Amino acid sequence: MDFSNKEIYNYIDNHSSDESDILYELRRETELKCLNPIMLSGKIQGNFLAIISKLIKPFNVLEIGTYTGYSTLCIAEGLNPAGMIHTIDKNEELLQIQNKYFEKSGLRSQIKQYTGDALAIIPKLKFDFDMVFLDANKENYVKYLELISPILKPGGVLLTDNVLWHGKILESSENQDRVTRLIDNFNKKIVEDKSLKTVMLPIRDGISLTLKL
Ligand SMILES: C[S@@+](CC[C@H](N)C(=O)[O-])C[C@H]1O[C@@H](n2cnc3c(N)ncnc32)[C@H](O)[C@@H]1O
Repeated sequence: MDFSNKEIYNYIDNHSSDESDILYELRRETELKCLNPIMLSGKIQGNFLAIISKLIKPFNVLEIGTYTGYSTLCIAEGLNPAGMIHTIDKNEELLQIQNKYFEKSGLRSQIKQYTGDALAIIPKLKFDFDMVFLDANKENYVKYLELISPILKPGGVLLTDNVLWHGKILESSENQDRVTRLIDNFNKKIVEDKSLKTVMLPIRDGISLTLKL
């Protein structure tokens, strides 16, 4: 079979459910007003996060890397009615846009934002988590894994974004830059950990889906 990445991407996009009006508006406002809108999960990954969350119906979710809140809202769709998503971002300038769409969504009371360095905030959270979405600075992925492992419940799910790092992960180790090498290191660590079962999925920039055994 011969097809271009663009063709297959368009086919996948056309055969995935549409965004809600709120997610569409949030994506458009992010694209118009924010730096690096490519960081936002978008329709395909957003559907994936929402479906996983709806299957788990989590009580406690940890999100590392809120950005403008697109993935937060996708995950929040699936929360248990008594559940809460705890979402961390170091950039306080994003709070205004996050708050606007969290209010609009009707899910405000189930979203708790934390502003600051996730490495400092996570140890202060006194919960165990049913689901974690790791999507912040890639060079700290291994450190995040060390913090997440003990607070992810058995049967809980970790989703990690950008594990293919725009294909740079395929470069030979001598040619890999520092961040690529650190992501590669994370990818190796997560499969070596016998308390975890992982499958890497070629969704967008690569997502690892990991179950705590
Ligand atoms: C890829 S974006 C998150 C995208 C979002 N999850 C989505 O799908 O729409 C990464 C975010 O991580 C945040 N970030 C980077 N380093 C961080 C750190 N050390 N602690 C907390 N947040 C951090 C950035 O400010 C940025 O908003």
